[in-house]
Amino acid sequence: MSGRLEKIKRMALEDLLNVNPDYAATGYAHLSYVACLGALLARKRGCDMELCQAAGFLHDVWLHERAPYSQADCDAHAAEGAKLARRMMEQEGEFAPEEIETVARMIENHDFTRQTDDPMSEILKDADMLSHYLNASALGREEEFNPRAALALEEMHALNKKGEK
Ligand SMILES: [Fe+2]
Ligand SMILES: [Fe+2]
Repeated sequence: MSGRLEKIKRMALEDLLNVNPDYAATGYAHLSYVACLGALLARKRGCDMELCQAAGFLHDVWLHERAPYSQADCDAHAAEGAKLARRMMEQEGEFAPEEIETVARMIENHDFTRQTDDPMSEILKDADMLSHYLNASALGREEEFNPRAALALEEMHALNKKGEK
């Protein structure tokens, strides 16, 4: 794993611990799930795994800083989260401007799950919905996150059956 991605992971965790320590564990768990699921989908779709992980680790930091968040926070979090992610990646110092823009665009689009955007944005949306779907499965709330989550899960299942790495 790259050194710059390790730094992004640490920055996301430290931010949550500093700003909202009561929510840091819950928030960071979600960021980690989305980063991991995003990397799997990126590998399957031939996209950049590292940037998908960076987007996963950064996509809800702005929102988690504000937990328990309001509906207004939820409504604003994709656009505001993209700005925060851009600042954090610039501060990290090793990402090229076009890489930062790619991740910022993914985060800006990630709450628009009913529309189709560029392939990288679609990976973050699918990974996010899949994370919520898997966490909700014990509560019987899976349907809230379909059909996007079910399709992504089917895609991963097909990946396993074919024996691909
Ligand atoms: Fe989000
Ligand atoms: Fe999320």
